[in-house]
Amino acid sequence: MPRKVNYGIDYDDDYEDDYNDDYDYDYDEEVEENGITAKTMPAKEVRTAKVWRCPICTYDNEDSMSACDICGILRNPLVKSNIQINDVAAPFKFNVPSPDDLVSSGLQSLKMKSKDNQRDTNIPVELELSAKDQESTSASVTRQRGNGVNEKDYAPTSGSIQGVPHSNVNTEAMSSKTGKVEQSIERKTASISDFTPETWMIPETVDGELSQLNLAIVGHVDSGKSTLSGRLLHLSGRISQKLMHKYEKEAKQQGKGSFAYAWALDESAEERERGITMTVGVAFFTSKKYHIVLLDSPGHRDFVPNMISGATQADAAILVVDASMGSFEAGIDATGGQTREHAQLIRSFGVDQIIVLVNKMDVVGYSKERFDFVKQKLGTFLRTCGFKESSISWVPASVMENQNLVANSSDARLSWYRGPFLMDAIDSLQLPARDYSKPLQIPICDVKSQSQSQVSACGKLETGAIRPGLKVLVMPSKEIATVRSLERDSQPCSIARAGDNVTVNLQGIEGNRVTAGSVICHPDYPVQVASQLEMKILVLEISTPIVIGSQLEFHIHHAKEAAKIVKILSLLDPKTGKVTKKSPRCLLSKQNAMVEVALQGPVCVEEYSSCRALGRVFLRASGRTIGLGVVTQIIKREN
Ligand code: GTP
Ligand code: MG
Repeated sequence: MPRKVNYGIDYDDDYEDDYNDDYDYDYDEEVEENGITAKTMPAKEVRTAKVWRCPICTYDNEDSMSACDICGILRNPLVKSNIQINDVAAPFKFNVPSPDDLVSSGLQSLKMKSKDNQRDTNIPVELELSAKDQESTSASVTRQRGNGVNEKDYAPTSGSIQGVPHSNVNTEAMSSKTGKVEQSIERKTASISDFTPETWMIPETVDGELSQLNLAIVGHVDSGKSTLSGRLLHLSGRISQKLMHKYEKEAKQQGKGSFAYAWALDESAEERERGITMTVGVAFFTSKKYHIVLLDSPGHRDFVPNMISGATQADAAILVVDASMGSFEAGIDATGGQTREHAQLIRSFGVDQIIVLVNKMDVVGYSKERFDFVKQKLGTFLRTCGFKESSISWVPASVMENQNLVANSSDARLSWYRGPFLMDAIDSLQLPARDYSKPLQIPICDVKSQSQSQVSACGKLETGAIRPGLKVLVMPSKEIATVRSLERDSQPCSIARAGDNVTVNLQGIEGNRVTAGSVICHPDYPVQVASQLEMKILVLEISTPIVIGSQLEFHIHHAKEAAKIVKILSLLDPKTGKVTKKSPRCLLSKQNAMVEVALQGPVCVEEYSSCRALGRVFLRASGRTIGLGVVTQIIKREN
């Protein structure tokens, strides 16, 4: 679950006195302690009368919990019989290449009209994807208006509903429980192509306005992701010198001096104590070209579900690789390397631009040979993941020694490198196409605060636009709420559009009606809510065949649900997408197949052809990701 980092806000003035203290960390001394203790932690729970302590994140859970409330790890030994398989969060691995491309490549049966979002039985998904690439190119020059809103055009109308003026929401039905007017929602039978965006939804190019770029920082555990994030925030002035000194001092006091920069992102006591990131940290800074939303992912394998939930919002990614001897090799190891896993996951989120930051070059003496070795090995792998050569940038750096991050390296040992420094490489990234003119959809990744009738929900607008005063629909709870205010990077903003990562302050809705995995949408165009789906899947490396009845964890945007395979419809040729066998008895590694899954509870979902972000699925079992898929058809819709 992503959480926003509020650096710079809670500065404690006591540190003023200590400001001039010398800061000096002893890296070697720290390495001993900062090793990933989780790896070696005994899988035995510490129990007290009313709580049980998670062996992974050490959170004290209520005795009634079957899995850790923080990291999702299954309680061991199991004490409840009603444990849901979606509570399992344990290691997993990918062993096969190119999930997104492979999933998509056989999708001949999934067709769509590119213009009106109606399904069309003649256009394969590959064409849709290449059309997306073309859109990306043109979208890169489009700028958002940001806060520079023309009041005449954009003044919020209290209670207005965006887009088409008519609403098919029945506001008559009274909820007996809440006493509030509850909405009876029926999905609009008219097509989304009938939707006419209002003028305020479409951005105008305004000189000097920066667009928001959601940038996931991914990579193997301990590669330096959080240190990089903290360093960038500090170098860009988002973390003051004073605050940095506070982090340095505190980190040093706890014997974790080398983690000072990481502390800006790793805020919880557990994360700091263990020296690992457990949830995705969200932070903001500005480059020459973009408002960057940093999504600092956990690298530890046990927190992959959190990484999935946060990094699905990414437009592009920095894959941080530890160049030191043995560490790079551990990251690309086929049986447990998160460099591999994260690269594959990111590609399967639809991210096609990646910067590989070859970090800790100080440890290898800024050796060109080592950099070339890493580039050659990892480059081959990334191409098998579906990244185009031209979409990968390679930047050697030392985050610790601040080399090649926001300026060319000052260390003569890196003089052989002629490419851009990191910040320039970030500014060379292209913005993906944004669907401003579609009805609003915001998958909620986190609910920050709740009161009786006010809720703050965070998420990235996948489609459409939003502004204060609008009435929106929250699914699956089917409740209408009013947008009281919007915040971008902790600052109030008057409008947010597709691609923006915002906090939406809602009023007129109870906190328990909005959860991570809910979707804020246009009242006339509610996201679908379904519990039975047809999907095209790519099976990853598995040891036990998938059969009818196989139990799975179903992950989609920020929601997860227990699921069961109810039909195996066909096997598909991975290249042509043609059916090679109908109703096979089981599915094996690397096979492409059409299946039907039944979910234990309904989730917000769209067919992949109408909204990629709400139609991409990750299937996990026994703590491993065993399949990637796209929703081809909604079989059982919940009303
Ligand atoms: P997880 O979130 O647990 O996956 O780790 P991470 O990738 O965020 O790594 P983190 O930033 O916590 O750094 C791990 C260790 O690597 C810390 O001790 C850092 O000081 C160290 N480190 C980061 N960058 C560099 C670097 O450029 N050189 C050296 N020598 N050490 C570095
Ligand atoms: Mg980290």
